[in-house]
Amino acid sequence: MSHPEKILVTGGCGFIGTNFVRYLFEEAGFDGLLVNVDKLTYSGNPKNLADLAAKAGEKHYRFEKLDITDQAAMAALFDRHGFDLVVHFAAESHVDRSIVGPGEFIQTNIVGTFSLLEAARQAKAKGRPCRFHHVSTDEVYGSLGPTGKFLETTPYDPRSPYSASKASSDHLVRAYAHTYGLDVTVSNCSNNYGPYQFPEKLIPLMICHMLEGKPLPVYGDGKNVRDWLYVRDHCDAVWAIACRGKSGETYNIGGESEWCNIELLRHLCDIVAARLGKPAGAFEPLITYVPDRPGHDRRYAIDCTRIKRELGWKQSVDFQHGLEKTVDWYLGNAAWIKDVQTGEYRAWITRNYADRT
Ligand code: NAD
Ligand code: TYD
Repeated sequence: MSHPEKILVTGGCGFIGTNFVRYLFEEAGFDGLLVNVDKLTYSGNPKNLADLAAKAGEKHYRFEKLDITDQAAMAALFDRHGFDLVVHFAAESHVDRSIVGPGEFIQTNIVGTFSLLEAARQAKAKGRPCRFHHVSTDEVYGSLGPTGKFLETTPYDPRSPYSASKASSDHLVRAYAHTYGLDVTVSNCSNNYGPYQFPEKLIPLMICHMLEGKPLPVYGDGKNVRDWLYVRDHCDAVWAIACRGKSGETYNIGGESEWCNIELLRHLCDIVAARLGKPAGAFEPLITYVPDRPGHDRRYAIDCTRIKRELGWKQSVDFQHGLEKTVDWYLGNAAWIKDVQTGEYRAWITRNYADRT
């Protein structure tokens, strides 16, 4: 598949989906029709793409507020548009939420993926086959000790309801390739950061708390390690795989930038302080150790040799520059932060994390 002209993006109003839609139109020169299906849960914000929608017009961009678990609606959408490519981001994505309430994760991540696969299978049977790119996480591989990295061949060992639901959806996607001959690709990526990330994830949560003078909650001993990738580089990788990846194959995507949480947070504190003209260390007193996340995976690290070697992809934004860009985006988008922190999110956080309100 080289030049898809009709693309279905699921979850395009979320963090990575928004960046991906922007990347396609603003950087990749995409000139076809992109249909964005999103249920607009607490983490989906249609305003993220309002300017782009107006600029692109109906010929190039359409938004459909739909639930991917609605099989009839998904089948009708495939019938109406005859997609060449599906890029499937829509998911419940936050580990802490999956611990408090796994039900939605089973519904959206497993049943929702199944319903899209069924729609793709039916479209193929009607003579309109499409490529199905499934966006997944490195968390399906489990937790690492101090050394080693996840390879595409690493056995699955998911340990949270979130990662178990993503692992399940990955298996379904591969099963549809083997059983029904669907043209699928899968990517497993490390932790993303950048603009439009909902401020429940580590980096935007900490930036927002610094701005509000709230405690900065560090789980456990703060020594858990994550591999961080700037979101634009993830989008670039997904597009490369969707267009040029080998059918039926999986590609790991990573930042090759491992940080333990407490060191990352100290660094982030310094960047925010500098940007606000405060002395280094100004936010240190806000750092607060809180009880650990149940089942907290210790370390993730990705070996992304394959995508580099086979598709010529590489990271373009180093962590220092990416963090600065991210801090600047949040500092410049106070209205966006306020907007997304209302409603269902506010109620949930109040119910479950009294120390975060
Ligand atoms: P997000 O929570 O910011 O966005 C998810 C989007 O999906 C939202 O717009 C939401 O409204 C939509 N959605 C949720 N349930 C839906 C449903 N039933 N029907 C239609 N739309 C629905 O998540 P994100 O961080 O952008 O993650 C996107 C994808 O990338 C997910 O599949 C996630 O597993 C994967 N991923 C994320 C990361 C990361 O660091 N954020 C890393 C690797 C992989
Ligand atoms: P998170 O952004 O939730 O991503 P994931 O759990 O999918 O890796 O968390 C990143 C790391 O930061 C993880 O080790 C948990 C830790 N963390 C905290 O210490 N405090 C927090 O408030 C949050 C949200 C995360």
